Amino acid sequence: MEEQIAIGGLAESEIPQAIALWQACNLTRPWNDPHADAAFALGGPGSTILAARQGGTLVGTAMVGHDGHRGAVYYVGVMPEVQEAGVGVLLMAAAEQWLKDRGVPKLNVMVRADNLGARGFYERVGYEPSEVIVLSKRLDGR
Ligand SMILES: CC(C)(COP(=O)(O)OP(=O)(O)OC[C@H]1O[C@@H](n2cnc3c(N)ncnc32)[C@H](O)[C@@H]1OP(=O)(O)O)[C@@H](O)C(=O)NCCC(=O)NCCS
Repeated sequence: MEEQIAIGGLAESEIPQAIALWQACNLTRPWNDPHADAAFALGGPGSTILAARQGGTLVGTAMVGHDGHRGAVYYVGVMPEVQEAGVGVLLMAAAEQWLKDRGVPKLNVMVRADNLGARGFYERVGYEPSEVIVLSKRLDGR
């Protein structure tokens, strides 16, 4: 029988495995430093990284946090060989619970416009497109 999936917090020592997972899921970008992103998310009370483990193996992650008003998720990824088995649903449920526990009433998800697969997934777990345009500006000179 397949081992059960367990969701918990990512340990700092697991950051290299998380980054390997993000690379396998095509979630890394040259202009983002995944080590810095992971350390930042684990370093404060307003964010964390949730880990899905099967046996001892990291099979999925979701970075979740809030800005005092709304929640956000990033680096939502499941190892390609474990996708379509319900791990993504568990991770999003855990991210939502993490935010609810902190009184956050709404979770906004940003999906790259060309990532139709992720859009299908989020719509399947209850997210609806919003008529907003995201404007952004880098503050780190990258
Ligand atoms: C998106 C992702 C996290 C989904 O994880 P997953 O574990 O495969 O998803 P689940 O098995 O929990 O799927 C939940 C539901 O979403 C659906 N779904 C999953 N991937 C889908 C896709 N690409 N297109 C449409 N629906 C999809 C599943 O069919 C399932 O529906 P069902 O309950 O009717 O069977 C995973 O495919 C992934 O890591 N993709 C690459 C990284 C990525 O794009 N992340 C999102 C960044 S914004």
